[in-house]
Amino acid sequence: MRCWHDITVDLPEGWNRVRRVVCPGSFDPVTNGHLDIIGRAARLYDEVVVAVLTNISKQALFTTDERVEMLREVTVGYENVRVARFHGLIVDFCRANDISAIVKGLRAVSDFEYEQMMSQMNYRLAGIETLFMTTNPLYAYLRSSLVKEIARYGGDVGGLVPELVLVRLRDRLGQPPAI
Ligand code: PNS
Repeated sequence: MRCWHDITVDLPEGWNRVRRVVCPGSFDPVTNGHLDIIGRAARLYDEVVVAVLTNISKQALFTTDERVEMLREVTVGYENVRVARFHGLIVDFCRANDISAIVKGLRAVSDFEYEQMMSQMNYRLAGIETLFMTTNPLYAYLRSSLVKEIARYGGDVGGLVPELVLVRLRDRLGQPPAI
């Protein structure tokens, strides 16, 4: 008698391809909301590339090297996640790295319109799909710009960013370490 695990299927050529996706962003700095999406993507796909935009138009608090370094440290536990930097179009980065889909987190309806526009444009430009994950409700209100603003005025951002980012924020903004 055959058990379900004895049954093999002849997969068409290409079905064993590595499923590689990208989580792009500015990550200035990485938050627990970003990490949640990266971790969930890592459980679904073979490989996840976290792509850090180098030429952010807005004034960045952290340099690209610093943002990449923090991301590498906080994703070290994921064997299938690697961190890279990119500039220019995300679709060009995808084509150059054999990436078929972009994974994005959606926090609220307010995110949707802009994200939909970008996803449709990226599909039109290069046939790259965008897959949306709803954000963990714990982080629905979380964004890097708010974290920076609160930290700048001495507010508590503990629990919103990884511990090492908390330390870097305090260093950068010249605040006393927590006791
Ligand atoms: O963390 P952010 O700033 O919201 O990330 C935005 C990002 C980097 C994902 C987006 O601005 C992007 O993909 N920029 C690369 C330039 C590009 O491809 N622009 C055309 C999008 S349709």
